[in-house]
Amino acid sequence: MRHLSVPSAQTQHWLELCRANHWNSNHAGVTRLEDGRSAIPILDSAPPPSDLIWNGNPHLELATQPKRPSHWLDHFDSELAAKHSEDLPRSYEIQGDVLIVKLEETVSKYGEMIADAMLTQLPSIRLVCADLGVKGEYRVRELQPLASRDGTVTTRTRIKENGYLLWVDPSNVYFSSRLSNERIETLASANHLRAHLERPLVVCDPYAGVGPSMGALLSEDGLVSGCLVGDLNPEAFELLELNLEHLSRRRKDSQGNPPSPLQPMEVACRDAKQWLQNPQNLGVVDLLLVNLPHHSIDHIPTLLPLLKTNQTTVLRGWAIVDRAEILEKEDDIRNSILSLGARVEKFAFTEVKGFSTTKSFMCFEVWMNLPA
Ligand SMILES: C[S@@+](CC[C@H](N)C(=O)[O-])C[C@H]1O[C@@H](n2cnc3c(N)ncnc32)[C@H](O)[C@@H]1O
Repeated sequence: MRHLSVPSAQTQHWLELCRANHWNSNHAGVTRLEDGRSAIPILDSAPPPSDLIWNGNPHLELATQPKRPSHWLDHFDSELAAKHSEDLPRSYEIQGDVLIVKLEETVSKYGEMIADAMLTQLPSIRLVCADLGVKGEYRVRELQPLASRDGTVTTRTRIKENGYLLWVDPSNVYFSSRLSNERIETLASANHLRAHLERPLVVCDPYAGVGPSMGALLSEDGLVSGCLVGDLNPEAFELLELNLEHLSRRRKDSQGNPPSPLQPMEVACRDAKQWLQNPQNLGVVDLLLVNLPHHSIDHIPTLLPLLKTNQTTVLRGWAIVDRAEILEKEDDIRNSILSLGARVEKFAFTEVKGFSTTKSFMCFEVWMNLPA
């Protein structure tokens, strides 16, 4: 096949020019030549070697190097790909060895073919599922298995996030890797609070899901001395217990030695508002996480008595808010704290970018000192 030989440093420029004019071949890749040049495969329809467009760069005949597939579409029927190019999925989500993809109605009948092509391209994927939307009380996704590498269709799988392992199950339990940056921020705030209080923290995460926030906090040596964590969804609770057991076993103190046992330590399948029914849980928490985005702000007043008094404590949570109501919701958070006579030391209510366009996904963080 005819190739255009160009200095390696100019490969991108010439590739772009050839692509823009539909002169390059999609079936062969660029070949590195021994003299430090690159050979770009071009079609017979491209201008002849003598054309001034080539700027004097020579043309060679080389055996074609088959292009290595780099996208699942490279394994998909090319006629169908061309016909449905607008509707075929451009993105997907991966949790462990499960790939989740939203399919437009027009291409849903090719679901298994699409899934097979994805399995061929992505060797670490075991199961491809179609995302049919959110269902039920715990707002988990309805997933339809499309193709499995080994015949198993369980969606329970293990992921690694920021260095720690977590069991997840996208068809039964909420988990979003898009919030992993928020967990890094939670860790940063916890480290600041730990430095301020000069001791490890008692953390409460009553809407913990599978426990990703606790993953971040428990993996930090000497940061956590106790935890109260739970979730109302029994499926989440099962994975939460597994994850906390694993995370607790790997804990170290600030010198890297095995630490004292967590105290308090409770993992429960419980409605968050019921943590207060045990008087032992009142006034014990340094850092309280509230992640039930459609209801977080309403739940704050019931949860505040878990926080310690006469010292700095931190409330950190997430809420989905109508754009027009941001100021009103900010007031609601502030008022639920001030009504207890607390001193607000720091207050932040900031948008987490990259979520819905119609509503705002907000993070609130309040440093406060509650009176006894
Ligand atoms: C948005 S998810 C957050 C999960 C987790 N914190 C995370 O970041 O992945 C909310 C979680 O709250 C749980 N949940 C819903 N209502 C609850 C309640 N009243 N009490 C405790 N947990 C609840 C759901 O099952 C879900 O796992």
